[in-house]
Amino acid sequence: SWPEVERYLENSVGVIVPIGATEQHGPSGVIGTDAICAETLAWRTGELTGAAVGPTLTVGMSENHMAFPGSITLRPSTLVAVVRDVVLSLARHGFRRVFVVNGHGGNTASLDAAIFEVYTDAPRIITGGEELRCLAVQWWDMPSALRLSAELFGDRDGDHATASEVSVASAAWPDHIKEIAIDTEVAPTSRLFGPVDFRRRYPDGRMGSHPQLASAEAGERIIDAVAEDLARAYREFVDEP
Ligand code: NI
Repeated sequence: SWPEVERYLENSVGVIVPIGATEQHGPSGVIGTDAICAETLAWRTGELTGAAVGPTLTVGMSENHMAFPGSITLRPSTLVAVVRDVVLSLARHGFRRVFVVNGHGGNTASLDAAIFEVYTDAPRIITGGEELRCLAVQWWDMPSALRLSAELFGDRDGDHATASEVSVASAAWPDHIKEIAIDTEVAPTSRLFGPVDFRRRYPDGRMGSHPQLASAEAGERIIDAVAEDLARAYREFVDEP
């Protein structure tokens, strides 16, 4: 409720914002995988730190996936505007440390741009209080995510519809696991030139990944460990002088 947010702001100016995507995740991954992963990890990080967690931004920049039905994309400039407006809205209420947990690689360039849009606009919009700072982190780059990817899946985790992300989504939504036969052959990751090229190179939507290795049990391990990393990163961010 808003009174709870008002009370929270008396003691903290930090907030976590999960952002994902709505795009195909191979033959077995749910379309919401990136949003589910970001939200699940953000909520767990909020439990570990006591941080407020903002709304999950569930649609991202997914142009490369638009040749697969069900995918939805914002153009990069739209995503920049959405993230800028969300962050500046939070800042107008007094939030000054915005920690973005990103679940989709296609968002990273727009997130970087959005943060600089925020820094450009902030002096005009925000009066008083500490300076506004934003930090976007990719959950799959956290040390525990890299360690568990190697330990659980070796060199078969891949780059899209990864066993790691399908595992996290399976742990979060166990009633939605798709049992489906998946070809053990998959093309290695290459350069890409848009959605038609993507589907031609990766007909079932995977990039170098073997999501048949995914399990809810693996997902629980990844969530537990990566949320600890994210909690540490969040605390460092809000405490940084
Ligand atoms: Ni993904």
